[in-house]
Formats: sequence, C-alpha cells, structure tokens
Amino acid sequence: MGLFRNRPPTPPPAPPKQNGQGQRPATTPHVSSTAATSPPTSKPAPAPAVPHAVPGYAPPPEFRVVREQVQQFLVKEVKASNDVHDPEEMKRLIEPIFSRALADANLVVSRIEREQMIALIMADILGYGPIQPLLDRDDISEVMVNGPSQVYIEQKGHLVLTDVKFIDNDHVLRIIERIVAPLGRRIDESSPMVDARLPDGSRVNAIIPPLALGGPSITIRKFKKDSLKVDDLIRFGSMTPEFAQFLKAAVHSGLNIIISGGTGSGKTTLLNVLSSFIPEDERILTIEDAAELQLQQPHVVRLESRPANIEGKGRIGIRELVVNSLRMRPDRIVVGECRGGETLDMLQAMNTGHDGSLTTVHSNGARDTLSRLETLVLMAGMELPLRAIRQQIASAIDVIVHQDRMRDGTRKVTQCSEVLGMEGETIVMQDIFRFDQTGIDEDGKILGELRPTGLRPRVNERIEQSGIHLPPSVFGLKDADNWYDNAR
Ligand SMILES: Nc1ncnc2c1ncn2[C@@H]1O[C@H](COP(=O)(O)OP(=O)(O)OP(=O)(O)O)[C@@H](O)[C@H]1O
Ligand SMILES: [Mg+2]
Repeated sequence: MGLFRNRPPTPPPAPPKQNGQGQRPATTPHVSSTAATSPPTSKPAPAPAVPHAVPGYAPPPEFRVVREQVQQFLVKEVKASNDVHDPEEMKRLIEPIFSRALADANLVVSRIEREQMIALIMADILGYGPIQPLLDRDDISEVMVNGPSQVYIEQKGHLVLTDVKFIDNDHVLRIIERIVAPLGRRIDESSPMVDARLPDGSRVNAIIPPLALGGPSITIRKFKKDSLKVDDLIRFGSMTPEFAQFLKAAVHSGLNIIISGGTGSGKTTLLNVLSSFIPEDERILTIEDAAELQLQQPHVVRLESRPANIEGKGRIGIRELVVNSLRMRPDRIVVGECRGGETLDMLQAMNTGHDGSLTTVHSNGARDTLSRLETLVLMAGMELPLRAIRQQIASAIDVIVHQDRMRDGTRKVTQCSEVLGMEGETIVMQDIFRFDQTGIDEDGKILGELRPTGLRPRVNERIEQSGIHLPPSVFGLKDADNWYDNAR
C-alpha cells in the first residue's frame, strides 16, 4: 500500500559531496576500481548482504540530510567501511552517528521508522539503494528507473508508478556501478550502456547520459525463482489444455519451433515451458545471452555469451556459440533469442539433422516472424539471394507460436501456424490455432479463447510418426476414424 501512496513533493536534493561507498567524489569518471582489476567474467558475484527494508517506506524530506551525514562519516572516519559486508556489523557502525544526525536534523521518529531509515541507508551501502525493497518483492516482475525521480514497476502485467526516488543522477549511477562492477563491466561516457545480471539472475540493462536524456536509466527484469509451468499458463488463460497437448507432442516429435512475440510478451517463459517437454534421454544445449532458462532435465549443457571486457576484447556472441554447439553432439539446440547472424546458423542446424530445435524471435505476428527471420539471416553478411534464404526458412521451420502481451496485462498465445513450404517466391503457411476474442468484460479483461482453426495440420504426420496420437478434437476435428486413416 505504502509504496503507491501519494506524498507531498520533496524539495530538490542538495547534491551529495561524496558517494555512498566512500571511495571517491561523485564527480569522478564512473569507472569502478573493482571493474579495472577484476577479471572479465559474466559470473555473478555472491549476493550482497541486504538489510531488510519494508517496501515502499517513504521517509520524510529531512532524511536526506541524515543519510548524507552518515555516508560522509563512513567516508571520512571509517576508511575500512568498504570491507564491511556483514549487515550487523555495518549497523553497529552507523547507529551512533545516525542517532546524532537525527538529533541534528530535529527529527523525532518512532522506533519502527528509525529501523526503516537505517535499512534504507544500509541498502545504499550494501544493496541496490532505494530500489532494493522493490527487488525483494516477489509480486513485482520488472523495475524501471527513468532517471532519479521516476521509478516504475510491473505488477500483474500492469505498469505502476511508485513514489521511490533517488537523490540525484549520481545516486542512480552509483547503484549501476554496484551492479556492473562485480562483473568486470563499467559504465561511463565512453561506454554508456551495459547489460548485466544481478547475482539472483535478474536481467539488467543500464543506459546513462548523454544517451539517456532523462538521466541514468535502469531496467531490471526480475528473475522468477519458480518459473511458470505449463499448468500456470493454462490457468492464466495464456493457452488451452488442448493447445498444450499439441505443443507437448510437437516438441516430443522433434519439430523445429519458433516462438515469436513483442518485448516482454513471455517468449522466454514459453521457451522454458516448451523445453520442459524435451524427453529426458536427449542431450540439450542451451545458448543464451543471459542464462534465463531453467531446464529440469538431467542432461543439459548451458552456454552463455560473453560481452567484451573493459578493453573491448574477448566478446563471444550467440553466433559463435551456435557454431560451437554443433560440435558438441547436441540432440536439441535451444537458443534463447535469435537477433542477428546466428539465425542463419540456427536454420542451417535445423536443416542438417538437428531437429527439435527451439528459439524465439521478436516480431508482431506469425507472418511477420518470417520476414524478421529473413532480415536476421541477412545480418550474417553472406549475401545470399532472397529466394535461397526463404527456402532455408521454409524447410527449417515447422511451427511458429506467437504470443502477445494484451492490453489487460495478460500474456496470451494468439496464433500458431505451420510452415508448409514454398510456392513461387512466397513461403506458404497456415494457421492451426488462433485467438478468438469475444469481448472485454467490465474490468477491462479480454475475453476469448485460443481455438483450433479446424484445418488438418500437416505437421501431425510427423507427430504420428513419432508414435503420438493426438485426438482429432485437439485440432477442432470430429471424425476420428477418417483422421487416423489420413494421418497414416
Ligand atoms: N503467460 C504468462 N502469464 C503471465 N505472466 C507471464 C506469462 N509469460 C511470461 N510472464 C511474465 O512476463 C514477464 C516477461 O516474460 P519473459 O521474460 O518470458 O518475456 P520475453 O518476451 O522473453 O521478454 P524480452 O522480450 O524482454 O526477452 C515475466 O515477468 C514473466 O514472468
Ligand atoms: Mg526473453
């Protein structure tokens, strides 16, 4: 509740003279000393010990002065405070000076409020500052910092503005540094954007001025400890049990499947669910930019790309990993997202016996996915004729599953199509399932269902060959006898 309550606007902050870690003035270039010395690695550092703060506690404006006073004390008096990682020890260290600062600021607070203030100060020193309470909450899926005075969250599929605020741009920058420095990355004017991961696996993007005009911006996709399962997706109305049955059979029988959708539409989540259908006796190779997939099978080799180090060297992209994975005897290749030249290698892998490969592509619909794939293949720089590219796509891809983030915040599979082949210059595809919207209820909730189109999918022959007999009703067909005769 407190998180979203309105409170009177706070006066503009006095710029802090030193940063919270006390290493240097906040105006020095934002290159972390840790970043310069630690080896470049994408492995997350151990989680910082984070004090417990109640989410959404909004301190009074005077708290700013108190916080500064404590921070300056740490900088000036306690040179070794950087080495203090134990919350209890840190608390013991700052409590006396905190009490004095409270008295100086003429602030009389309750015991509970006092604990909250200390927690906030400690979150600045040991955790991720004002957004730490948001990161601690399981019901928040995304945290978006748009400069110091605007922090949005995503909750139940909806964007909500919080009243969480940073002191100023430098405060946001310090938190970004805290995130990226343990990974051997840096952020400054010469390298103003960075992708990183929190120790808990949450995905982070940070971008700072001059590129971000409104101040340093951070976007955090929180890592879901318990990833959504197929039953969850059915329960949320993202798909029907019949469609899930089809997907399971499609993956089991080794069809090559592309999941498409917009940003945050649930592609990776769906990829995780599809991957969970891969039989346990197969060797799975997963390739991702930031390892998000959580496969439960026993035989999984996980590969993660690596960004360039501080000197701009040592980058290993998805493409190189896809090429390398072919030498690792994969039964299945699962690529987190195709967004460049690796698409060509992926299609070639699919066409040369690596059936049952899965990946995701950013697009606006199943048909758009095909043109998107064409563009991505061109990024490989091979100058292939368009017809050859289309032929590769048509023979490699069996099924496209498209998911959307709807206006009511829900994620739904809206289209599933099979790729039939080429006719002249065009790739031919047909819809097997389509979302049929029947209306919107009084709460703005979208009503409808993912329904079979009633067409006999060609891919069912492959499913049958693998020994799985789906009931014809899955595809909206009635005559069972005919169905099996035709399928054989
Ligand atoms: N079917 C669903 N129902 C409800 N929430 C979902 C569903 N699928 C995914 N989500 C949630 O939506 C958010 C985005 O999901 P996900 O990371 O899978 O999307 P994405 O399309 O891969 O995003 P990006 O384009 O940024 O990679 C996550 O918080 C996830 O838990
Ligand atoms: Mg994703």
